[in-house]
Amino acid sequence: MADRWQEIADKIIKKERSVAERNRGRIPYTTKEAHVFGDWSGERDIAWWTNGFWGGMLWQLWNATKEDVFREGAVDVEKKLDRVLMDYNGMDHDAGFRFLPTAVAHWRVDGDEEAKNRGLLAAANLAGRFNPKGGFIRAWNDFDDGRDTRGWAIIDCMMNLPLLYWASDQLEDPRFRMIAEIHAETVIRNFFREDGSVCHIAGFDPATGSYLGRHGGQGMSEDSSWTRGQSWALYGFALSFQHTGREPYLTAAMRVADRFAMRIPEDGRIPVDFDQESSCTWQDDTAAAIAACGLITLARLLKDTDKADAAKRYQDAAERLLITLDEQDADYDPAHDELLTKCSVAYHEEKHNFPIIYGDYFFIEAIWKLTDKELFIW
Ligand code: GLY
Repeated sequence: MADRWQEIADKIIKKERSVAERNRGRIPYTTKEAHVFGDWSGERDIAWWTNGFWGGMLWQLWNATKEDVFREGAVDVEKKLDRVLMDYNGMDHDAGFRFLPTAVAHWRVDGDEEAKNRGLLAAANLAGRFNPKGGFIRAWNDFDDGRDTRGWAIIDCMMNLPLLYWASDQLEDPRFRMIAEIHAETVIRNFFREDGSVCHIAGFDPATGSYLGRHGGQGMSEDSSWTRGQSWALYGFALSFQHTGREPYLTAAMRVADRFAMRIPEDGRIPVDFDQESSCTWQDDTAAAIAACGLITLARLLKDTDKADAAKRYQDAAERLLITLDEQDADYDPAHDELLTKCSVAYHEEKHNFPIIYGDYFFIEAIWKLTDKELFIW
């Protein structure tokens, strides 16, 4: 299989050289016309939660090639995101998604002090969203439609906790790590269902911290399994276990991983929601790519333990997901900006099966894991 992963990596590098050249100075999120990325770096869009992933892609590509076009693009994104750090309402639970693949990645590469400062400011902001009564990190800021989100925590936040683990390590100050761990424990108590799946949103009274119940989010319904939510939980808990060595996080990651692997359809294509009608063709390649990263991470953590059987199961499931993406949904044409073509934001959105930048990011990260090219981001 090693040759196969290397072939995919070669196709990605060849393509992304052209994509990076064409998109200098921009921050892509999706295509604005066929095969052409739009730019989310303007005043109106700069705080968009996905704006770290393009920088992360460029750092991963730089790590594999050491070519300037990738490094310059990545540093440009990092500097553009300073506007977000100065905008209280622009920041939310996704501080990790914005600043781990950009500022912290830069610091990991060459110890840049400005980059480290950006990462620490982002971590302090994320820690400031912690609600000590409920033991959770608040998700979004106020919604335009008036819904009160002060007591809302969401599963996606699990992937942002590594920013807090990193900050604790840098400052030799346990506060950030404590917040991450308390949040993770709240998620284990309130988001998990009997079958190992997770819900998207849990609500708490923001003043007393008491648990109020679940809300429908980006999946089909409150009780269904939104696939990207499952993959955020899978990879997020695997990373929390990697950072802390705490067994409950491993158990949580394995519960979601087992359920996810069991529900991969025959054709390997991941739907937007595992509970959608089997005739529905809406896919989410982002969920497949994120889950592949989480499964490979778990497989690596478990391979030399008494859970080696599970490690093999997870590695096999990840490889199946990646082969499906490679064979059915990846566009390697250097003239086209997008890599993965069938992603979805949410079940109830009108648009489905289109390119989204974090699908490309996690596909590259997964292939880099299998070809030893990865820059550790999380
Ligand atoms: N973090 C939002 C999403 O996964 O769509």
